[in-house]
Amino acid sequence: MSSNTVAEFASELKKTPEVLLDQLKSAGVVKSASSDALTEADKQKLLAHLQASHGVAHGDRKKITLVTKSTSEIKQADATGKARTIQVEVRKKRTFVKRDEAAEAAVVGVGVQAAEEAAPEPDHNPELVRREEEARRQAELIRRQEEELAEKRREREAREQREREAAERAAAYAAQEAEKKAQASAIKQEATREQAAEAAARAAAQAEAREKAEAESRARAAEESARASDLEERRRKALEEAAAIRSMMSAPAKVLVAKKPEEPKPAARAAEPKKGTLHKPATTPGAAPRGAAAPAAPAGGSGKEVKSAKLSSSWAGDAAKKKEMKTRGDTGSGAARGSAWRAGPKGGGRRGNDRDRGGDHHAHASTAEARIIEVHVPETITVAELAHKMSIKASEVIKALMKMGQMVTINQPLDQDTAMIVVEELGHKAVVAALDDPEAFTDEEAALQTAEVLPRAPVVTVMGHVDHGKTSLLDYIRRTKVASGEAGGITQHIGAYHVDTPRGMVTFLDTPGHEAFTAMRARGAQATDIVILVVAADDGVMPQTKEAIKHAKAAKVPIVVAITKADKPDANPDRVKQELVVEEVVPEEYGGDSPFVPVSSKTGMGIDDLLEQVLLQAEVLELKAPVDSLAKGLVIEAQLDKGRGPVATVLVQSGTLKVGDVVLAGQTYGRVRAMLDENGRVTKAAGPSLPVEIQGLTEVPQAGDEFMVLQDERRAREIATYRAGKFRNTKLAKQQAAKLENVFADMTAGEVKYLPIIIKADVQGSQEALAASLLKLSTDEIRVQLVYAGVGGISESDINLAIASKAIVIGFNVRADTGARKTAESNDVGVHYYNIIYDAVDELKAAMSGMLAPEQREEALGTAEIRTVFVASKIGTVAGSYITSGQVTRGCKFRLLRDNVVVYTGDIESVRRLKDDVKEVKEGFECGIKLKNYNDIKEGDQLEFFEIKEIARTL
Ligand code: GTP
Ligand code: MG
Repeated sequence: MSSNTVAEFASELKKTPEVLLDQLKSAGVVKSASSDALTEADKQKLLAHLQASHGVAHGDRKKITLVTKSTSEIKQADATGKARTIQVEVRKKRTFVKRDEAAEAAVVGVGVQAAEEAAPEPDHNPELVRREEEARRQAELIRRQEEELAEKRREREAREQREREAAERAAAYAAQEAEKKAQASAIKQEATREQAAEAAARAAAQAEAREKAEAESRARAAEESARASDLEERRRKALEEAAAIRSMMSAPAKVLVAKKPEEPKPAARAAEPKKGTLHKPATTPGAAPRGAAAPAAPAGGSGKEVKSAKLSSSWAGDAAKKKEMKTRGDTGSGAARGSAWRAGPKGGGRRGNDRDRGGDHHAHASTAEARIIEVHVPETITVAELAHKMSIKASEVIKALMKMGQMVTINQPLDQDTAMIVVEELGHKAVVAALDDPEAFTDEEAALQTAEVLPRAPVVTVMGHVDHGKTSLLDYIRRTKVASGEAGGITQHIGAYHVDTPRGMVTFLDTPGHEAFTAMRARGAQATDIVILVVAADDGVMPQTKEAIKHAKAAKVPIVVAITKADKPDANPDRVKQELVVEEVVPEEYGGDSPFVPVSSKTGMGIDDLLEQVLLQAEVLELKAPVDSLAKGLVIEAQLDKGRGPVATVLVQSGTLKVGDVVLAGQTYGRVRAMLDENGRVTKAAGPSLPVEIQGLTEVPQAGDEFMVLQDERRAREIATYRAGKFRNTKLAKQQAAKLENVFADMTAGEVKYLPIIIKADVQGSQEALAASLLKLSTDEIRVQLVYAGVGGISESDINLAIASKAIVIGFNVRADTGARKTAESNDVGVHYYNIIYDAVDELKAAMSGMLAPEQREEALGTAEIRTVFVASKIGTVAGSYITSGQVTRGCKFRLLRDNVVVYTGDIESVRRLKDDVKEVKEGFECGIKLKNYNDIKEGDQLEFFEIKEIARTL
């Protein structure tokens, strides 16, 4: 091609310049010499000429072109499930050329065509002809290959196009279909969106199925067309699309927001705004871009629905997950149900949410999460224990507490109230557990609490009015002489004794009969199984008899009546019976259920019968208690011993109390250091119904407190501390309330005097009784103010407290120690000792009365005029008077008035009439009046008679 002259071109074409010149000439290109220049146009001209002549020469050449057309079908299921057939046409074109023919392939390039030109002259250069032919064949092969490749590419492109269209059509159809369905169902039932969700789910399922089928058929087609990889890619894409459609269907609101509309699908697009308005309130800012152009959806309905719609949108993901797990038959809407469930069984929105947040653990667990555990919450419980009870992690409890503003550690004990709030907050049920509630214990502890129950001795409380012979009766039974040694002849402590009778052991509690000991009687009744009501045959039913009946009835225990002092001549058992019937204690012989036994502690009459009756009652009761377990019982009495520290008399009600046990009693706790029985003998253990005295408590417990043995000393301390704190709080609250009350009372009643007192007693029960009795003495004018009450001797600190509060100190069966005595003397603090409660009460009453000024009232009697003054030799100056009004009496008082001025006030010594002493002289009579110690009287003086009446005031 680079040849520019004829000669060069000829050598290029492997021809002689002459031949080329001829050919050029015949082609119309005039060239005379081989050195003539050839232009591109000349070359083209030559080529055209040669082609024309060649065509004529080879017109009959064998060349066959085959065009094949194959049509195949792809079957696809559309969104409705209907099968559709897509026609696929494949066209193939092949050209066959007869090999032995001369090379005639269309070779690109002038050079080749020029070589072809040489073909009609085979004889000219056979070698050249052969080569040319070879080249032609080569060119033809390349061309064919190229053609084939182009054909294949076209084919592939066509198929791809068709497939793409099919997939798009299918996807669009699926989306349209689903949208149509969703829309239809949504409009149909706004409130119940379950169906919509279900329809969507079904549509999604169908879409999925369809996609599968499609993919399958496409895979087949791919196999056929040997383009599997490409189809695979497309299939994957289609599957992705299907998944997107599916998720869009099952969670419309959410997906519509999140879904990227990369491939604009008209149907899906159109669905968007509609759904947006449907599921989101139009006012929601987020919905604006999509909702703006949306057609106004049917009115959303009530606010409730809007709310649930909101909820459902936020739970949609979960709901969708749930939905997947559900069976078809499940008609409940995932979203609706989810929100309803989440709102919690109690309906409290906040609680529900909290629960969800706090209890994720619950929310995502299985159905077990909905289980509401009944948690028994004891007085104190550590965070870890509480978590364990709810079967959750301690961190959950800590989290819940944090929300409540409390920072706690895992081992921190919580009080009952807090723990209960936490339990409720976490969606469980909290139950107040009594201290001995087995539920409140660990399994190990609970096992110890529940041992085999065995028969136990009855506890019998003797109750009745003061001096009716309770202690004497017990003395006779026990062969002791307690009554005779009692101060003031009355019982002031609750006494506990056990007696071995031929028919088994009986534990007796002796209670005081004095009215001050109401609390002790109440405690006695609470601790007992049977009450022996003592009524003296000579005295009958008295106030404390009635009170005892009340206590017994309140405690629902059977009553056995002992009519004591039956030996006395004035004994009248029948009267006692009648009086008791009035109190609704009916003898068995009258059809009641109380045995009445007349007894005498002097002669021993009827006592065996009484015991018999008591044991009979006990048998009926079938009393039982576990023996081999941790002890539980009641504190009967407590005191502070100088040497032994706090000492408590306890009645074991169940289990066995042993030395070394950790005891929790009311607000105090401790390890039992030593144990004494009622006779002061050391014991190691005490079983049910046995009274014992224990040492080792850290403080004096309250009489009447329940005690129990705990395994863990730390826990005992925890509970005791907690109780003490609680007690202090309530006490403070009470005091404050009382103070306010006082202020109000003071305002209304004017000036009030306070009598502050400090009580120290030997035992807790006495202190309590004394305090109650003394406080009862308060009146409107004088109020008894209890500064402090405690058990034990009077110490210096008590005296100091008395100094500070200007209180008097009352020692009941206790004395002041030396230091206290000295301080008291030097500070002039009144310390009063008593050993009988009524003495203390009476004396205080008297002291309080003394604080009240007696009332003095003047009562006018009459007036007189002194008419003459004469002096009698033996008597002295006598006033001859005329009674102008009223009267004059001997011994009354007078006032001497001279010119209406009181000159003297004194007493009248005697009154005489006609030489006789008289008691009184009335108005209109004359008489002689001798004034005591006063003689300076004159005629015309006036006398005024009066009496002073002093009215003593008592409380
Ligand atoms: P408080 O505990 O103070 O309520 O009195 P109590 O019921 O224990 O009476 P207590 O046993 O102390 O007896 C009071 C008085 O009654 C004593 O002087 C006894 O001697 C007397 N007494 C008690 N029982 C009998 C009895 O059966 N017959 C006679 N004749 N006197 C009795
Ligand atoms: Mg007594």
